[in-house]
Amino acid sequence: MDRYAVFGNPIGQSKSPFIHSQFAVQCAQQMQYDAILAPVDSFADSWRDFVASGGKGGNVTVPFKEQAYQLAEVLSARAQMAGAVNTLYLDHTGKLCGDNTDGVGLVADLTRLGVGLAGCTVLLLGAGGASRGVIGPLLEAGVKQLVLANRTASKAQGIADNYDSRVLACGLTDIPAQAYPLIINATSSGLAGGRPDIDTKHLNGCQLAYDMVYGAKPTAFMQWTSDNSVPQQADGLGMLLSQAAAAFTIWRGVRPDIEPVMTLLKKQLAV
Ligand code: ATR
Repeated sequence: MDRYAVFGNPIGQSKSPFIHSQFAVQCAQQMQYDAILAPVDSFADSWRDFVASGGKGGNVTVPFKEQAYQLAEVLSARAQMAGAVNTLYLDHTGKLCGDNTDGVGLVADLTRLGVGLAGCTVLLLGAGGASRGVIGPLLEAGVKQLVLANRTASKAQGIADNYDSRVLACGLTDIPAQAYPLIINATSSGLAGGRPDIDTKHLNGCQLAYDMVYGAKPTAFMQWTSDNSVPQQADGLGMLLSQAAAAFTIWRGVRPDIEPVMTLLKKQLAV
């Protein structure tokens, strides 16, 4: 049976084994998908052991996306743009290929939620790995201007320097005053129950507040935007499922439907 796995540290919390086993049943694929706890300093050894035991492909999560990028022999354009790899597979010649499906996962989820990205102005909060992975795909989807705001403005500038004038960097306190129909929180502040500290005036004109973090309850960012009259909120569960579906499609050549798995995951999160 073909073997796949997600590599991370920690990994116990990962939903990927559940998601991919559901996709496999749905698409009638004979495959096994495990979670592998790789030592922080030896992802490459864990990957090689996995391939030696029949592994065909993998997902890579925190903190190994950059190490996977270094290890891959062939990189997709979007992995190059992100500087990180979340999907690995062996091509027909046995070469190790690295791709990044995080950004297309976000774009697919925004499309599912009814957002028209073509011509849209987006405020993206945070300048870590989560943010870096999605900028290229958002621009490819037609975003007209992307304001990248970060607590540490220099980090946002460092990322913006890789793009053209569509990407504008700033700090959280000097966000340009204009309407942002879509605001995306890509900071890790939600993991500690917080939210990025931006002025409520930036919410005027916002139609959707999207948080890449997800959980049983709305995140602090979602709650705050809802309290300040933003009509629609979403968390990152759909993005998680859509990046997984894109990886599954690369490996197996069939595209799973995320909706039934989303229903199951929401039920799991609620208990
Ligand atoms: P990830 O890979 O999840 O993006 P990361 O690379 O550690 O994680 O980046 C975390 C991001 O969240 C950074 O943009 C960080 O801001 P700084 O660059 O200024 O550190 C941001 N962040 C974390 N906690 C935050 C908070 N409480 N308020 C605002 N931004 C926060």
